[in-house]
Amino acid sequence: MCGIVGYIGKENPISILIQGLKDLEYRGYDSAGIALKNKDNIQIIKSIGKITNLQEKCQNTNLISSNIGIAHTRWATHGAPSKINAHPHKVGKTTIVHNGIIENAALLKEQLVKEGIKFNSDTDTEVIAALINKYYKNDPIKAIEKATSELVGSYALAILFDDKEKLYAIRKDSPLIVGIKDNAFFVASDITAIINYTKNYVLLEENEIAEMTQNHISYYYQDKEITKKVLTADIKSEAKDKNGYEHYMLKEIMEEPLILENTLKPYLKNLDLLPNLKDYEEIHIVACGSAMYAGMVGKTLLEERAQVKVFCECASEYRYKNVIYDCKTLVILISQSGETADTIAAMRNAHSKNIDTLAIVNVKTSTIAREAKMHLFIEAGPEIAVATTKAYILQVALMALLAFKIAYDKKIIKDTKILADLQKAPCLIKEILENRKLYLKIAKEIYQSTNIFFIGRKVDYAIALEGSLKLKEVSYIHSEAYQAGELKHGTISLIDEKVPVFAIITDKQIEEKTLSNVEEVKSRGAKVIVITNNKNITNYPDIIYVPKINEFFQSLLVVPTLQLIAYETAKLRGCDIDKPKNLAKSVTVE
Ligand code: AGP
Repeated sequence: MCGIVGYIGKENPISILIQGLKDLEYRGYDSAGIALKNKDNIQIIKSIGKITNLQEKCQNTNLISSNIGIAHTRWATHGAPSKINAHPHKVGKTTIVHNGIIENAALLKEQLVKEGIKFNSDTDTEVIAALINKYYKNDPIKAIEKATSELVGSYALAILFDDKEKLYAIRKDSPLIVGIKDNAFFVASDITAIINYTKNYVLLEENEIAEMTQNHISYYYQDKEITKKVLTADIKSEAKDKNGYEHYMLKEIMEEPLILENTLKPYLKNLDLLPNLKDYEEIHIVACGSAMYAGMVGKTLLEERAQVKVFCECASEYRYKNVIYDCKTLVILISQSGETADTIAAMRNAHSKNIDTLAIVNVKTSTIAREAKMHLFIEAGPEIAVATTKAYILQVALMALLAFKIAYDKKIIKDTKILADLQKAPCLIKEILENRKLYLKIAKEIYQSTNIFFIGRKVDYAIALEGSLKLKEVSYIHSEAYQAGELKHGTISLIDEKVPVFAIITDKQIEEKTLSNVEEVKSRGAKVIVITNNKNITNYPDIIYVPKINEFFQSLLVVPTLQLIAYETAKLRGCDIDKPKNLAKSVTVE
């Protein structure tokens, strides 16, 4: 997703803005731009590709002296990645950068063209700039409010006016925060872009406007001045360092044992810190991507071990469905960023029908964390790599813990003895992560493949889904997760000696069935890699054994093996592991 950074203060903004964009790189982008302002003019510099291209361009440009600036990394939605479509966009006296999607941009543009406005780009952002400029008669707050009242869609905007030594910001649905420092103010898509300068920030609510000068900030809502609470971020700036690892993805995988232990500790000490969910007759788990796959693990455990009726659906489908809430239902939203547009919409749909929501979320200041009726923070710390790893495993852990808690509250499970296995999990994961030579060996066997399958049944299938996505995301090898029993109904036609098949086998009850599916693919030449907790499974060239623990928490020991195999494979293929092509860390648009 796009990244926004803005600054107004005593210093020249160029290095603050460029560094801020670099700290937002993980959000994904294809072009970047910057606007510097002083009392006489606004200078705009744009480039496509990496931020270093923009940095080089700035170094080779005679920059105006300035202490106000806005900057942007663009993840193309309307209009191809190009310099002309890169932000900032300037129309008349108005210069803006934007994160989000304006759904009625074409209609508004048509009207503005009729009024004689000339457009240079294909972007919805330029339409916003033109609309604000149309209403700007020397009162920025009024112009911003009038223009944004006509927009349908999501926006986070940083705005400059030719004749104002001020910086403006407003948001709706897309994230934007205001950083507060003595005699300097910042605007950013998220705290990581400004944590090196200040930990004090303000969260703008929908359509609140911040007006900043060098040494003062005011807030407005519907043309009235309001006051805002200043918050203090609880992340350390070193969270953005790789601590000696080659990639953030590897660093974040290696953090898993420690953060798992830290997140679980309070709940293992006092289960009552978890919400009491036993009276819900139905649970809908709604999320996107890996978060949804964590939900699929939760679904299996809730159904099998807590006897709850569960639906698990991707938010992009669920939000448009006519969902029948005909009994006491809980909607669980899982999201690392807490800003995924589809998941937010699904949450708000549930709220519109007075349905309770529980968010399992990482970013505490996010929209989902703030709006859900209940929340459980996964406390993973900032996750910089686009491909989620530590957040995902914590989502799985909390889903498993919730399933246990419901089973315990419903007296299906009589005591808490099995929690000892969850207590052991961080230490076991640490050992599993040390086995890197084996994962590298397997990566060497698969990294030149073009098609790879991950198969399993029940909770092993849910894990296979994430194993497949992780590999696809970072190594760009096509892969597919398949219910092991379903393969023979067509897709097995794709299996031959060129197709590696990962078989995940940890569920004792269904083990024999999955093993016969493994034989089916093996007999068609597939290279089989088995991941199992059963030492009696031996007759395969590649077997990764994980320690056997209680089935509620067993998946936690499989996940890191798949994450490291994906990582090593991507490395062998020379991929951009932390910032895979076309991907964004938080999909804040539909
Ligand atoms: C995971 O590696 C992907 N980056 C993606 O599938 C992600 O899980 C999905 O976009 C949901 O994001 P969220 O958890 O921030 O809502």
